[in-house]
Amino acid sequence: MADEKVVGILVGRENTFPHAFIDRVNSKKMGVRAEFCKLGGTRMDDPMPYSVIVDRISHEIPYYRAYLKKAVLDGCVVINNPFWWSADDKFFECCLAARQGVAVPKTVVLPQKSYVEGVVAESLRNLDYPLDWKSLTDYVGFPAFMKPFVGGGWKNVYKVHSIDELIWSFDQTGELGMILQEGIDFEKYARCICLGQSNIKVIRYEPGNPFHMRYVVDDDYFGEELLARIERDARTLVSSLGYDMDTCEFAVRDGIPYAIDWLNPAPDMDYYSVTPTYFEWVVENMANLVIERALNGYTPGAQYRWDRFLDAAPPPAGLPVRDWTEFAHGELIGAHEEQRATQKSAKAPTAPNPSVQKESKVQSGQGGVPETRDMPSDGGPSLPHPVPDGETTP
Ligand SMILES: Nc1ncnc2c1ncn2[C@@H]1O[C@H](COP(=O)(O)OP(=O)(O)O)[C@@H](O)[C@H]1O
Ligand SMILES: [Mg+2]
Repeated sequence: MADEKVVGILVGRENTFPHAFIDRVNSKKMGVRAEFCKLGGTRMDDPMPYSVIVDRISHEIPYYRAYLKKAVLDGCVVINNPFWWSADDKFFECCLAARQGVAVPKTVVLPQKSYVEGVVAESLRNLDYPLDWKSLTDYVGFPAFMKPFVGGGWKNVYKVHSIDELIWSFDQTGELGMILQEGIDFEKYARCICLGQSNIKVIRYEPGNPFHMRYVVDDDYFGEELLARIERDARTLVSSLGYDMDTCEFAVRDGIPYAIDWLNPAPDMDYYSVTPTYFEWVVENMANLVIERALNGYTPGAQYRWDRFLDAAPPPAGLPVRDWTEFAHGELIGAHEEQRATQKSAKAPTAPNPSVQKESKVQSGQGGVPETRDMPSDGGPSLPHPVPDGETTP
């Protein structure tokens, strides 16, 4: 068919969903054909064959993520938006959700346990440490959960009951960015499969069951009122982040659903875990979603500031130009001169102290957070410090 639209799917090891999805789209004969994407060494001007790409794996294959960003530039609808997915994290999500009236556990974002090679104590001069574990745990209480702020599959998720357990767990986390979170002692748990930002299937979920028995078909489980609240909250979460394919988890305590995890932009859609009932729902609704997007297109609109970078229009003519380099130099020179004047007028000359100029190394303790930060006394208030060799600037 000449004007047939093509939907591509990028997958990892999963076996049940992709074939069922492709077959379902194709069987609908709506002028939209689905297939597995084939990629390998993409040139800048390669044509974009896909109207829609369903991305189930780019979080693990960075080349795919780079390809998908270019695909967006070429007008392809990518599910999920690779720009936002790259930017998202669980701490930001909790802060946003709280402002939107969705209940979330009290959450703290932690400095990392360790750093890439080349980061020494001097690199961390903005960091206030040792951490005040007592005050942080007073805030979240015990038991608490510590987990990566970007992650999935229950990897590196720790449930801790004391500061000792917390520090031991923290010491296992290496360079991972972690959040510490109030544990919700729940009476019910829900997992919602959320498609197209508005289509929500709330499912009873038993996190304590063996993997293949966690989703439970029990549509009356939550009752009308709680179900409506979970649906509404899930819609708020996914629509504000623009996820077209996601799952949201809620732990219900005293009748209130607390959002636990909704950073699942490649959610489990396997026949053997979501149950045949919900598998059918997912396949049918995903097929309808991509057909709709392929036929009508979709832009996330002005939701993301970096959409502006995709707009090649030049800035409006006549904008005043400011020379930021000169401006910055002016400020620094001022601070430098001020400091020299102070030093001259001081009675005792400020000789460098070799004992504090020794090479500063990150030291372990208190959960591995560096304890010492001997600073050479070289710094005026606003003079930039040279970046130590090998430091990776974020
Ligand atoms: N704050 C919390 N309160 C209660 N249970 C939690 C909390 N955080 C995580 N859990 C439990 O740990 C599991 C894994 O945590 P989650 O945030 O979903 O990580 P992942 O992204 O790896 O799936 C959840 O499904 C839930 O059972
Ligand atoms: Mg989860």
